[in-house]
Amino acid sequence: MADTRRFWNLLSGIYSRQKIGDENAYRKKLAKTQDHFRPDMVVREIGCGTGTTAVIHAPHVADYEGVDFSGKMLDIARTRAADAGVTNLTFRQAALEDLDATGNFDAVLALSLLHLLEDRDAGIAHVAEMLKPGGLFISSTVCIGGTNGWLKVLGPIPRAFSLFPILKHFTRAELEASVQGAGFEIVESWQPKEGASVFIIARKSG
Ligand SMILES: C[S@@+](CC[C@H](N)C(=O)[O-])C[C@H]1O[C@@H](n2cnc3c(N)ncnc32)[C@H](O)[C@@H]1O
Repeated sequence: MADTRRFWNLLSGIYSRQKIGDENAYRKKLAKTQDHFRPDMVVREIGCGTGTTAVIHAPHVADYEGVDFSGKMLDIARTRAADAGVTNLTFRQAALEDLDATGNFDAVLALSLLHLLEDRDAGIAHVAEMLKPGGLFISSTVCIGGTNGWLKVLGPIPRAFSLFPILKHFTRAELEASVQGAGFEIVESWQPKEGASVFIIARKSG
């Protein structure tokens, strides 16, 4: 994991200047997420990167925590939050796997993260432990299993160069099964177009 953290540290500057691929889909995901937000909610976003989404969402809830294991990503995120004057947004440097199972969050977001995890089932189960009963798990995930798309060539590359994060191969159905297997009910599963990331809003049972 230390090596992939280095990869994200090195990429942080380029990542922060990158344009959003599908602006329309991104806006819709923001709106679909905010439809579930209430002003009293406590929200955590894991793998928040340079904080673009955190800065947009935080004003819609009581408390928003962005988590990422890359300190360089978080340096940029903190500057962005300060520039935007968002005061209820804090950042924490940690890996998902090392976070406490606090059970106090109303919603946990993982955007472009699950396909990077070595053990997606364990990661999703750990998210479930952070949430209150009835809490929401909102994710956006690249699902390249079962496709012949160009992204598949990225699969073997990480194994050759350990600096690169592993891009895991799984299908949309397998991802949905993982989410349900961790005790979530899927409220919405949306793929803007073929090959695009799968956006899932799921509710923890209980
Ligand atoms: C593809 S970027 C996505 C950033 C942001 N969520 C977005 O959608 O633009 C993945 C981010 O997750 C972070 N990350 C990867 N694995 C992680 C882990 N196990 N725990 C915490 N952060 C992780 C990386 O440092 C990086 O900032």
